Amino acid sequence: MIARGLLQAGARVVISSRNAEACAQAQDELSAFGEVRAIPADLSRHDECRRLVDLVTADSDRLDILVNNAGALWDEPLETFPDAAWGTVVDLNLKSPFWLVQALLPALRGAGTADDPARVINIGSIAAIHVPHRPNYSYSSSKAALHQLTRVLARELGPQHITVNAVAPGAFPSAMMAATLDEFGEAIAASAPLRRIGRDDDMAGIAVFLASRAGAYLTGTVIPVDGGIATTA
Ligand SMILES: NC(=O)c1ccc[n+]([C@@H]2O[C@H](COP(=O)([O-])OP(=O)(O)OC[C@H]3O[C@@H](n4cnc5c(N)ncnc54)[C@H](OP(=O)(O)O)[C@@H]3O)[C@@H](O)[C@H]2O)c1
Repeated sequence: MIARGLLQAGARVVISSRNAEACAQAQDELSAFGEVRAIPADLSRHDECRRLVDLVTADSDRLDILVNNAGALWDEPLETFPDAAWGTVVDLNLKSPFWLVQALLPALRGAGTADDPARVINIGSIAAIHVPHRPNYSYSSSKAALHQLTRVLARELGPQHITVNAVAPGAFPSAMMAATLDEFGEAIAASAPLRRIGRDDDMAGIAVFLASRAGAYLTGTVIPVDGGIATTA
């Protein structure tokens, strides 16, 4: 959703995930909208974040926009919630955005100016704004920490012409949400004041806004895009 929006707005885009086949397929599909390159990487690992950054910056030593989107969810009752559900989720949802910002600092500093700062967009969640109904302890906590990391980095990096904002999505169709939406999609839509779940353009639009001239004066914000589910809870 976000990659398509940024491509349609004229950006050159690099996408990444672990699955090389999925990367190639997404690159094929997104090529219809502009110049896109897929680089498979396991971003839950520090060395893999560095490898991705080395490959991205080999092409250009400037990066205008970093979207930290990769995320993992673990849903299991309190009694059996395993230790592995903390490491896996926190490494990807919290540490990885930090590692990528850290490794990309020179490229972000190289792109940002006072009038047109470089942009970091972290994908958080409304699960960190209200208390979710599902037992996803490490997920909601890691997203709350990501929202706070967004504010911490925003204060430090603002003077360096880099903005840092977070988007907190409500329910959007995706692999992660497929089972939940199959079972509870109608109830979730009914619970939203806007009476529907999110659409591709809702997510593309907020990312394009933050990356555009219109978003140049925002930093340290967490923007819920949720049809009112958490904002009116
Ligand atoms: N959909 C929603 O309703 C919703 C709501 C709130 C927040 N969010 C957030 O939105 C973001 C995108 O999620 P989604 O809903 O689009 O779920 P998704 O379809 O499961 O997408 C997650 C993406 O992360 C990648 N990924 C997972 N582990 C990775 C790893 N170790 N290294 C690199 N990439 C990895 C996955 O690809 P591979 O498996 O190929 O690695 C996949 O492309 C997440 O941060 C999620 O928490 C989504």
